[in-house]
Amino acid sequence: MDIIRMEGITKGYPDHPVLNDLNLSIKKGECFTLLGPSGCGKTVLMRLIAGFETPDAGRIYIDDTPVADLADHIDVPTENRGLGVVFQDYAVWPHMTVFENIAYPLKIAKVPKDELKKRVMEMVDIVGMNGLDKRYPSELSGGQQQRVALARALVGKPSLMLLDEPLSNLDANLREEMRFEIKELQRKLGVTVLYVTHDQEIGLAISDRVAIMDANGNIQQIGTPWEIFEKPVNPFVFNFMGIANFIDVRRENGAFLVGNGNQQMPWPTLPEGDTNKWVAGFRPSDVNISRDGAGLRGIVRRANFLGATMDYLVEIDGTHLRTAIETHHAIAKDLVLKAGDQCSIEFTALHWFEAEQLKGVHEE
Ligand SMILES: Nc1ncnc2c1ncn2[C@@H]1O[C@H](COP(=O)(O)OP(=O)(O)O)[C@@H](O)[C@H]1O
Ligand SMILES: [Mg+2]
Repeated sequence: MDIIRMEGITKGYPDHPVLNDLNLSIKKGECFTLLGPSGCGKTVLMRLIAGFETPDAGRIYIDDTPVADLADHIDVPTENRGLGVVFQDYAVWPHMTVFENIAYPLKIAKVPKDELKKRVMEMVDIVGMNGLDKRYPSELSGGQQQRVALARALVGKPSLMLLDEPLSNLDANLREEMRFEIKELQRKLGVTVLYVTHDQEIGLAISDRVAIMDANGNIQQIGTPWEIFEKPVNPFVFNFMGIANFIDVRRENGAFLVGNGNQQMPWPTLPEGDTNKWVAGFRPSDVNISRDGAGLRGIVRRANFLGATMDYLVEIDGTHLRTAIETHHAIAKDLVLKAGDQCSIEFTALHWFEAEQLKGVHEE
């Protein structure tokens, strides 16, 4: 069953369309992530669901009840939509203790004192803040403050949590840890989560399903993290989900030749179709590099040691490609290369697209 259904949603500002005829359904109980570049309309979409804004056209359902539809004068107030909301800029209140922050929604709802106390302390426990309930936010770390915000959003027992980049103000280590905590909370409480972010890793790590939105507010693909990563429907999605290399490949007399040179693409299953212009996409780690083995011949133009990996920019017939191998593998196999070294590249994964599809995709 769908907990959210957005039908034909359009929203814009004067001279500035954001969402256009958008359709999106979220199933009850799932953790759904909307991933898209900065400025594509993710926060606008969340504000529409939360009821902070009204769509120009279209209808939003929560739990099969229409909550927003301008044409039918439907606009259910936020507090009646059964939501928990954590927005990036929705900080905890500095003048209230942890307890008071978490209690706030219950106080507004006039929940009796005893029950209020019980439920707040339950949440304090669930988000791992035992013993800290009398502290003020200034006495907490960034991660602890974020837990308070989560607890405050969850204390009203919402069936749906809207999380808008809730971790973006945290440092990288904490972000990494907190995303698993959010996932754990979601499992524990059985709440549906709609999470929006521009951070691909979060999307992959915590989601049952992911939607990829482009800069124009159009959804390009919806699928499991695995499907999005392994079966991108177009170069935009592939490019968005991580560092992407694109190699031009032309078909000539049945052979697939790389760039403007005469090397054949070393790949067993070549694409079929009418076009002679293809693009093969791969990620830096989708390669086997050797000094003079089989594969495409190239020259290392730049070599960087990044800790766990060695990052080589390799030029093949005029095309520059980012490749990476594990540092310890490089040391063991005499593959610590430097600029000017010759090398060979084979692929462990390739995604084929028609060259036509690549138009408009930002190439790095
Ligand atoms: N109240 C507003 N008035 C005018 N433009 C807005 C308003 N809110 C958002 N926008 C514009 O809508 C676009 C989408 O914004 P937003 O949803 O915040 O993007 P993001 O995907 O980064 O969350 C941006 O270009 C933003 O400038
Ligand atoms: Mg935003």
